[in-house]
Amino acid sequence: MKDFTDFRPFDRSQSNLHRVIAVIVTAVTILFGENLVVAQDFEREPINYLTALTDNPISQLAARLQKGEARLEHEDRRGYLKSLLKELDVPISSQTLVFSKTSLQRNRIAPRTPRAIYFNDEMYVGFCQHGEVLELSAVDPSLGAVFYTLSQEAAEIPKPTRQTDNCLLCHGSSNTRGVPGHLVRSVYVDAGGLPVLSMGTQRVDHSSPIEKRWGGWYVTGTHGKQLHLGNLVIKSTRQTEPVDNTSGQNVTELDSRFKTSAYLSPHSDLVALMVLEHQAEAHNLLTRANFQTREALHAEAGLNRDLKEPPAHRWESTTTRIKHASEALVKYLLFCGEAPITSKLQGTTTFADEFSQRGPRDSKGRSLRDFDLERRLFKYPCSYLIYSRSFDALPAEAKDVVLRRMWEVLSGADRSREFEHLSDDDRTAILEILRETKPGLPAEWHQSNVEDGSLK
Ligand code: HEC
Repeated sequence: MKDFTDFRPFDRSQSNLHRVIAVIVTAVTILFGENLVVAQDFEREPINYLTALTDNPISQLAARLQKGEARLEHEDRRGYLKSLLKELDVPISSQTLVFSKTSLQRNRIAPRTPRAIYFNDEMYVGFCQHGEVLELSAVDPSLGAVFYTLSQEAAEIPKPTRQTDNCLLCHGSSNTRGVPGHLVRSVYVDAGGLPVLSMGTQRVDHSSPIEKRWGGWYVTGTHGKQLHLGNLVIKSTRQTEPVDNTSGQNVTELDSRFKTSAYLSPHSDLVALMVLEHQAEAHNLLTRANFQTREALHAEAGLNRDLKEPPAHRWESTTTRIKHASEALVKYLLFCGEAPITSKLQGTTTFADEFSQRGPRDSKGRSLRDFDLERRLFKYPCSYLIYSRSFDALPAEAKDVVLRRMWEVLSGADRSREFEHLSDDDRTAILEILRETKPGLPAEWHQSNVEDGSLK
């Protein structure tokens, strides 16, 4: 358990942010309560989170800015936001709006002044009106989420500042699977934006029931009779569940609720929210599989040295740890336990189109980014993050296990209950798409016949 007084102090130029941080410590304690365990294993060998070289969209952009190869335009109202998103290829249609005071710049966040979050496959960007900084979490293939702030004051050469403890307090806890990671929560929120914790709070990923999602978020989109907690401000803290949220359902415009012109888009697209929720947890599990494998191998190397075993001696405990972390990842990437969708869902922006246009597609025109949105999120339930640098950067020992397990499931050799949401057609389609679009698959993936003959 990390002591909250154990803060690495900001230097003087960051004193404003320091003040903000001081305020949020209380919020963290309240919000996460005794659940908060700041894991520090990743600060040591072999991960060396604080000192290892970074390689992510922000570290790359910082280098380009420094060399004059990239420039960011500053605007009065939104500082570097628009230009930064463009430079990082993060679509404006990914905008989601959260009004709970659950994050860093909590004094700036309320139902009338929500925080905007934008994302693509490897970046998340947070913006608050009049915020001193943009908050950035970048997906680093070997370090998980790496955090930065970018000052919103105009500068000759804007420089993203790496942040560690100030962000890890919430982003490196049991709420992010014990690794530096991403967070999505659902809470009941009062008119001032404060979470009403007596009514409960929860972490959200693609397994969370839709009716529990989006507390503290604006949601624009239609969803028939399927209910959710978005667009809801709690009037009295004495309210008990179930709360009447009739006016929060099937909302397609937010202008009557706050001044939307302060943002790059007036929407908080429902489909964008669902993708964000899937993706944030997928990134955390990718990082966890990566870290646990490297940590297990590191511990094993030490043990072999101490016990004078040959360096290649494999301990069963190592194999078990790697299998464990890999299995959790496989299940998530194949959407085990995904919350059912019972009415057709539709967003209010071009997000879904732009997202699926990113492909890749197979020769039959199919893509893992094609949406279903009637029964489940995606048409072919295998995460597009299989194409990510984080997936490719998994240590070989983990990647071998992950790909072998995926092959067992997709080929039909593993028909256990947890994968029964995947029909034979689903499995065949995913297999065929991956064969054509994912380079470097093991040879067995390209066999045309599986022994038990169940699938082509
Ligand atoms: C008080 C806890 C807390 C602290 C401290 C905190 N965050 Fe967050 N952050 C959250 C929560 C909770 C969310 C989920 C969205 C929300 O509720 O606003 C979030 C979401 C984000 C997101 C969007 C998706 C994601 O999870 O990556 C970014 C980007 C982000 N934070 C950046 C930062 C940065 C950078 C710092 C440090 C400078 C930081 N945060 C510090 C709680 C915190």
